[in-house]
Amino acid sequence: MKYGHFDDANREYVITNPQTPYPWINYLGNEDFFSLTSNTGGGYTFYKDAKFRRLTRYRYNNVPIDDGGKYFYIKDGDTTWSPGWKPMKTPLDSYECRHGMSYTKFNSSKNGVEAQILQFIPLGFWGELQKVSLKNTSSETKKLKLFSFVEWCLWNAEDDMTNFQRNFSTGEVEIQDSTIYHKTEFKERRNHYAFYNVNAPIDGYDTDRESFLGLYNGFDNPDVVNDGAPKNTVAHGWSPIASHYIEVELQPGESRDFIFMLGYVEVAPEDKWESKAVINKKPAKEMMAKFDTVEKIDAAYGELRAYWDRLLGKINIDSGDDRLDRMVNIWNQYQCMVTFNMSRSASFFESGIGRGMGFRDSNQDLIGFVHQIPERARERIFDIASTQFEDGSCYHQYQPLTKKGNSAIGGDFNDDPLWLILSTTEYIKETGDFSLLDEMVPFDNDASRAKPHFDHLKASFYHVVNNLGPHGLPLIGRADWNDCLNLNCFSEDPNESFQTTGNKKGSTAESLMIAGLFVVYGKEYVKLCKRIGKDVEAQEAEKHVDAMIEAVKKDGWDGDWYLRAYDYYGKKIGSNENEEGKIFIESQGWCTMAGIGQEEGMVEKSLNAVKEHLDCEYGIVLNSPAFTKYYIEYGEISTYPAGYKENGGIFCHNNPWIMIGETVLGRGDQAYEYYTKIAPSFLEDISELHRVEPYVYCQMIAGKEASKPGEAKNSWLSGTASWNFFAITQYILGVKTDYDGLVIDPCIPSKWDGFKMTREYRGATYNIEVQNPEHISKGVKRILVNGSEIDSKIVPILEAGKEHSVQVIMG
Ligand code: GLC
Ligand code: GLC
Repeated sequence: MKYGHFDDANREYVITNPQTPYPWINYLGNEDFFSLTSNTGGGYTFYKDAKFRRLTRYRYNNVPIDDGGKYFYIKDGDTTWSPGWKPMKTPLDSYECRHGMSYTKFNSSKNGVEAQILQFIPLGFWGELQKVSLKNTSSETKKLKLFSFVEWCLWNAEDDMTNFQRNFSTGEVEIQDSTIYHKTEFKERRNHYAFYNVNAPIDGYDTDRESFLGLYNGFDNPDVVNDGAPKNTVAHGWSPIASHYIEVELQPGESRDFIFMLGYVEVAPEDKWESKAVINKKPAKEMMAKFDTVEKIDAAYGELRAYWDRLLGKINIDSGDDRLDRMVNIWNQYQCMVTFNMSRSASFFESGIGRGMGFRDSNQDLIGFVHQIPERARERIFDIASTQFEDGSCYHQYQPLTKKGNSAIGGDFNDDPLWLILSTTEYIKETGDFSLLDEMVPFDNDASRAKPHFDHLKASFYHVVNNLGPHGLPLIGRADWNDCLNLNCFSEDPNESFQTTGNKKGSTAESLMIAGLFVVYGKEYVKLCKRIGKDVEAQEAEKHVDAMIEAVKKDGWDGDWYLRAYDYYGKKIGSNENEEGKIFIESQGWCTMAGIGQEEGMVEKSLNAVKEHLDCEYGIVLNSPAFTKYYIEYGEISTYPAGYKENGGIFCHNNPWIMIGETVLGRGDQAYEYYTKIAPSFLEDISELHRVEPYVYCQMIAGKEASKPGEAKNSWLSGTASWNFFAITQYILGVKTDYDGLVIDPCIPSKWDGFKMTREYRGATYNIEVQNPEHISKGVKRILVNGSEIDSKIVPILEAGKEHSVQVIMG
């Protein structure tokens, strides 16, 4: 069952039933200032850091779900309704929520009144705009009462939800004209405040939640709205809110627009006050003046759309299947921007208080984003690398506001360093900018310990070499990519965190996943060294890569698939000998991508085993059989009920590793089948089962051993976005960036006649047309560039500023 439809021409998903199987959300903002907005108006806003600079309050896991947000109430006679359906939930005559590229629109109507809301954050602006348009479509004069509503968060979102003994006494506001200013803690150490304004005279306001709602009422039953009259309250402590009240009289056919602005202001300490206890409103007023007319807001909206036209114009395909085209051209790229911005911090499943930017997560997110805004990717690479130590180890996470490593989580996730090689080499392949290798980048955020960025890659590579276990395989540390395979944790205490506890010291547990990862990115490191003339280093490094390949063949092969790990005691994990968890996806993915033992048939056997043991109707599960009891020596993985998360769930992030593995063998039909199983646009018809948004990837779909296979959770912030984009564009469609051009080597379903891709690359536009006359999956017979045949699969770097035709004939 569907709850809406795609509007590809506008790049929107149009929700036509507000009661989606779970709130379906969107993100506003592209740089510093962000909002999350659900299809019923729920969500919140923050500046840079969802924990430390949260502007508006949001209660996670609330009852009912998604209660609280940026709401509007329209009182028309005895009927009160909300254009986003919530909070009033009055049945609407029509409802539409259009989630687009960094904007959301509501179009609703009730009793002859149409309401349109356009919400977005202008580029480079620290404020959200809401254009509210009301139109009288009836034949009588309408006297409407419009109430806005936001609830302030007292800045630190975690403290806001826990420290009530203090917080109920600290809230402060100021009201001037049509603006409500939120200035809690401004008098002491905060040099920032927020405001909510409307570009029209108001007929009243409220800033005290209890007075507005009534102590025992919910958002759907506010006293003030019921009475049809504001109380003009000034909040002192408790829970400050901002609600404007406007009386709107509309003749038949008449309409009116209001522009609301929710803004954030930082002021220099010496400029904080206008007069005693009165905040300096000048910067806020300058912001309001920027968008106080419909023309100005429309122009900013036009700029935002043009911005996304440019970004999405860089890669565009025509495959003949709308579901695929809209993933690649629109939604997957859009999600990659969001994961780049948010890492794993703020979604409807990530509360914005727990996790900063992940070292491994952010490096991986970058590969789906680097073609969009390479300059930002470059800056991000340095931010990440700055949290590394000289020995290659690193902080697992850093806080976006300070960019400092998070010592509460610490490090020792031994896959982390390698992802820096991935992000850096992908950045160079996209841009040709080798200069970043020479930039001085601090270790441990200490400028006096800066070294050229290349040294960070070297440190990453040798961190593996210097941390090998008894089989010559990489030590796993706290965990590898799989945060829940905690092989030195041994926790018997439910109050301990699996992520940070290491009760057994001196563990020699080894990871086959890191082994495969090391071979893939070790080879990349060698290739890079050669490319920049570091031949001696290349030779040296190559020996270590070769040794790792041998170690995997010798001690990492189980007969039909690659092992997953050796545990603390040196026992096998992911072996046919095990009762549960006989086979795992991660090592199959990385060792097949690395092509380890391909001549001996290992790659093929491994992938066949994946098909046989891990594949199911809804995707490839992480391990099988799932664990049914707690294994103290394995850690968190065995805590999840079978079929969920890292224990037999379809952890979508790692499915593309298998897709890419399949392309190593040239099995395009299989690679694409795996792609379609988890690509959200292909799941739109089963939305009632899948539950989360049909336009973005989720982290996890319940696996075959779960009670409800196919039910998804944790949408939006997942490495799934970048990896699927990478897999489909660079391996299945097979247009891969490289140092000296685009390698074209598709691995597609054999029934395809071909496809087209426009790819902006190093300033030139490549109009690529792939033809598949013999209906094969892999193999390129001829490539013609601007009509002339070239004798390799690498299409060279072509003249910038021009369009070039690239014809590829498979065979
Ligand atoms: C989550 C984490 C990621 C980890 C994965 C598997 O998605 O963000 O870092 O690799 O889970 O445990
Ligand atoms: C839990 C989750 C995992 C996530 C980790 C980090 O272990 O299962 O997916 O990566 O927490 O917070």
